[in-house]
Amino acid sequence: MSDIVIVSGSPSSSSRSERVLYHLGSLAEQKDLSVKHISVKDVDAEDLLFGNFNSPEIKEIARKLEQAKGVIVGTPVYKASYSGVIKALFDILPQDILKNTPVLPLMTGGSPSHLLAIEYALKPLLASLKGQNLKGLYFLDSQLDKTKENPIIDEDILDRTTKQLDYFIEKVKQGDGSFASFL
Ligand SMILES: Cc1cc2nc3c(=O)[nH]c(=O)nc-3n(C[C@H](O)[C@H](O)[C@H](O)COP(=O)(O)O)c2cc1C
Repeated sequence: MSDIVIVSGSPSSSSRSERVLYHLGSLAEQKDLSVKHISVKDVDAEDLLFGNFNSPEIKEIARKLEQAKGVIVGTPVYKASYSGVIKALFDILPQDILKNTPVLPLMTGGSPSHLLAIEYALKPLLASLKGQNLKGLYFLDSQLDKTKENPIIDEDILDRTTKQLDYFIEKVKQGDGSFASFL
């Protein structure tokens, strides 16, 4: 069992959002938490396309998520929403898969115009799976440099990321899935 499971929803082979997710994962590991990464790229495309609920791989993903003390979900903004492939994955997972689990939602996008996609798209999806959402993080591509060890190059969003990650880690360590998403 891992303390934190991180789900990456980008189909890109050189994904910015995934780069940020790995960075957050290594920060959590430095605070003595165990971390497991799941990427939509590692899931069989036929299982996703044909909604294969009974696939052993999908059941294993469900098991990891159910046992996690906290979950971070990251996706690029695609057409003003989350990526289609992350929705395809969550569609075939049990409906209460994130019950009582602190969830840190994260999006990367090219434009500030779609900042609210985290509010109207990603957070409702995670809430429908019974996750306890934190406020969440939205990164503009211009605030990231995926070639750097710490890909977050904008001071303001870096500060917000540190605060939210610390709060998330605190909740994970407390085993607390019931809290307000005020941060
Ligand atoms: C198919 C596609 C659709 C996109 N649609 C949007 C969009 O509607 N709004 C936006 O701000 N960025 C959009 N982008 C830009 C990505 O959200 C942005 O570059 C993101 O950081 C990519 O993340 P990734 O590298 O993890 O895949 C789109 C990119 C692609 C490839």
